[in-house]
Amino acid sequence: MSARHVIVLAAGKGTRMRAARPKVLHRIGGHPLVGHVLDAAAPLRAVTTTVIVGHQAEAVEAAVRGLGHPRLRFVRQEPQAGTAHALLQAEGALAGARGTLVVLSGDAPLIRSATLAQLVEHHEEHGAAATVVTAMLERPYGYGRVVRLDGALVRVVEEADASPEQRRIREVNAGIYAFDLAPLFGALLAVPEAGPKHERYLPAVLSRYRRRGLTVETVTAADAREVRGVNSQAELAELGSVMRQQKNAELMASGVTIEDPATTYIDRDVTVGPDTVIHPGVTLEGRTAVGARCELRSGVRIADSTLGDDVTVNDCSVVVRCEVAAGARVGPFAHLRPESALGAGARVGAFVEVKKSTLGAGAKANHLSYLGDATLEAGVNVGAGTITCNYDGEAKHPTTIREGAFIGSGTELVAPVTVGRGAYVAAGSCITEDVPDGALGVARGRQANKDGWAARRKRDGES
Ligand code: UD1
Ligand code: CA
Repeated sequence: MSARHVIVLAAGKGTRMRAARPKVLHRIGGHPLVGHVLDAAAPLRAVTTTVIVGHQAEAVEAAVRGLGHPRLRFVRQEPQAGTAHALLQAEGALAGARGTLVVLSGDAPLIRSATLAQLVEHHEEHGAAATVVTAMLERPYGYGRVVRLDGALVRVVEEADASPEQRRIREVNAGIYAFDLAPLFGALLAVPEAGPKHERYLPAVLSRYRRRGLTVETVTAADAREVRGVNSQAELAELGSVMRQQKNAELMASGVTIEDPATTYIDRDVTVGPDTVIHPGVTLEGRTAVGARCELRSGVRIADSTLGDDVTVNDCSVVVRCEVAAGARVGPFAHLRPESALGAGARVGAFVEVKKSTLGAGAKANHLSYLGDATLEAGVNVGAGTITCNYDGEAKHPTTIREGAFIGSGTELVAPVTVGRGAYVAAGSCITEDVPDGALGVARGRQANKDGWAARRKRDGES
């Protein structure tokens, strides 16, 4: 086995996206396009992995570094004069390197590791100078077409340069290649400008190799979808949809019930346990992990959160960066904001907002409340309409409600404040001082009833 190197082409502007964001940083499945490509290449265990950046190079480089791939190198391409020109920029970075170079497109995110393994294996077995991944597409529009003679690849012709006859060819160049490093950079130097934009096309190397009698091989992807690239917003949406279908299929195969896969949006890295039921219109994002036997009702959005087993999240609830323990119930219409945690069997009901707060096992806040910077120990019951006043206009302050305390409805807890173990707070109180363990805190005006007042008012109004 020869040494392997990887290069990802990611310098292009992505003009056809018509967006300020560089194309390879657009996201599907919760990751930027270029991130999917690097992930697919990771199992190749390359000696070096180089990303060619150019358009908004700093932004792309920073975003790619943030993905946490080890030992990445970055090379600048300025100006962006085509895919062959892009690859040529890595000559210095790969000086003296020998073996197989796998070249990937930063805008083709569905390529699978298995296909790359097959590409490299085929390439090395045949001692090829170059091996190209191809696929048969129903709609090959926009891709370079593979022109063959007696079964062998002769050249790749780009959409813009293709004759009407060539445009009917359904076999396309995936823009993914394995090259023997030895002849590569010399050959790239000789690639002339072509096409309407005077670019140096990487596929031109293939036809030059053929003419020189070097071996050019092809590997056809079993699943044509995986070679597809993103050039427009419409393709971004289509590929995002393909990725979601694959994710949903995987989860269903592992025992998750998804009532309507067409309206279920689950990012690539999300995990879901068996016998969990996902109703229509659910979105699970980022690093979310959902346990077994959970129920996620319609309109729920969960991001970067962990849910234990047997958790129910009712309709239209939002959960972001939270930990929800087994058996907890959330919503409908609840908002769990970052750094919140619900203990086992805890309940957060309708129109309750929880921010940076912890509810112990079995604690409940079932109706119309705001809990911010609060710690509720096990078994606490928060009555309807209770609000922590955690912000004084300058700083946030904590509220602590000790084990088993009962907060009456419509209470204001002016932080910093503590309600003791097993204490009670009378409904409608505005609590500004700590309530000791086992005490009753009452903090409200006394009620006065004025007998006959209504009739007097009516009479006075008439006269
Ligand atoms: C390219 C191929 C085409 C193939 C298709 C597959 C060429 C000339 N054509 O076309 O045969 O069917 O991919 O998706 O290679 N890039 C740079 N520097 C540049 C130009 C591009 O780094 O100067 C990068 C882009 O960021 C992108 C990749 O190379 O990630 C492909 O470039 P793109 O312009 O999208 O090529 P296509 O027209 O799709
Ligand atoms: Ca492309």
